[in-house]
Amino acid sequence: MKTAQVGKDIEKAAEMLRNGGLVGIPTETVYGLAANALDEKAVTRIFKVKNRPSFDPLIIHVASLADFQLYVKEIPVNLLKLAEKTGPGPLTLLLPKKDIIPDIVTSGLERVAIRIPNHPLTLELLRQLDFPLAAPSANPFGYISPTRPEHVVAQLGDQLDYVIDGGASEVGIESTIIGIEGDKTVIYRKGGLSIEQIEKEIGKVYVLDHSTSNPEAPGMLKSHYAPNKKVMVYSPNMHFELIDSAKTGFLGFKETIAGVRAENQFILSASGDYSEAARKLFYGLRWLDGLDIDTILIELVPEENLGRAINDRLRRAAAMD
Ligand code: TXA
Ligand code: MG
Repeated sequence: MKTAQVGKDIEKAAEMLRNGGLVGIPTETVYGLAANALDEKAVTRIFKVKNRPSFDPLIIHVASLADFQLYVKEIPVNLLKLAEKTGPGPLTLLLPKKDIIPDIVTSGLERVAIRIPNHPLTLELLRQLDFPLAAPSANPFGYISPTRPEHVVAQLGDQLDYVIDGGASEVGIESTIIGIEGDKTVIYRKGGLSIEQIEKEIGKVYVLDHSTSNPEAPGMLKSHYAPNKKVMVYSPNMHFELIDSAKTGFLGFKETIAGVRAENQFILSASGDYSEAARKLFYGLRWLDGLDIDTILIELVPEENLGRAINDRLRRAAAMD
C-alpha cells in the first residue's frame, strides 16, 4: 500500500495542494487534513478520507487577519480586537461567509469558521498559496486528534499525498470557537485559548453546553475523541474489586493511583500545569489505547482555565453526559 511521504518540503506540499491534493499540516493545536477550500472536489475528498458526515462543517485556515476580508463579509469589533490581541493562536472565529466559500465547506451554513494557525511551516505554506486551506483534525471521524506527524501517517497515511513534519503540536487541543448571536458572544467549542483569557480581553461570554448529540450544534457530538478501549471516569471511591487491574490503564492529572499497574499509568502534568496537560492529553490517550488493556480510567481535572477544555475532551472520550 502506498503511504504519504513525510517531510518539510513546503514547495512540494503547495504544489500538491494546487493540484487538488490532500496534505497533513502541523498546527499549534493539532494536525490538520488540508485541501484547497475553494476546490469542491478536493474538499469532498476530505470528508471521504475522514469518514466525516457532510453536516459537520470545516474550518478554513489563512495566513493573516488581512486575508479574512477575502472570505468573510465582516468582523465584529470585539472579535477583531480579540484576534489582534491574542493571535495568531488557538482561536477560530465564526463569521458570515462570502460566496467564494463553497457551501460544502460550511455544510450549507451562512457562517464560515476561520483561523490563523500559529505554526511557522504552515504559515509559510499559506503565504505561498492564493487560496485558504480547509482542514479538520487529521484523524478518522470520532477518534483521538493527532498531535504528531506519525499519528497522521499511522491512520491516514495511505490516503494523503504528503505530510508536513512540524514536530509535536505545542498547544495539543483544538482551537476555541467563538461567534456572535444577537447581542451575545458565544463560545461554541472550548479550546486552546481559555475562557478566562478571552474574557480578560472582551468581557463576558456565553459558553454553550457541549454535551449534546444534536448535530445542529456542529462539532459538539457527545461521543468524540474516543479511544477504541472502554473509557470510564475515575473517582477515588470506585469499587476496585470490580476492576481487573492487569487490564486497566489510568490517565491522571498529577499523581498515579493504587489499584492499577504503574506501567499502565500516564500522568498529564506532575506539577499540575494545564498547558503541559493539554499538550500531552491526546498523546497520552493514544498511548493508553495502544496498551494490552481493555479499560481506560480517566481523571477529570479542575474546571478552570485550560482544564475546562481538557475536561470537555475527557468527557466526550468517555461519552458522558
Ligand atoms: O484547532 C483546530 O481548530 C483544528 C486545526 C487543524 O485547525 N481543527 C479542527 O477541526 O479541530 P475539526 O474539523 O476537527 O473541528 C472543527 C469544528 C467542528 O466541530 C465543526 O462542527 C465546527 O468546528 N465548525 C466548523 N465550521 C463551522 C460552522 N460554519 N458553523 C459551526 N461550527 C463549525
Ligand atoms: Mg476534530
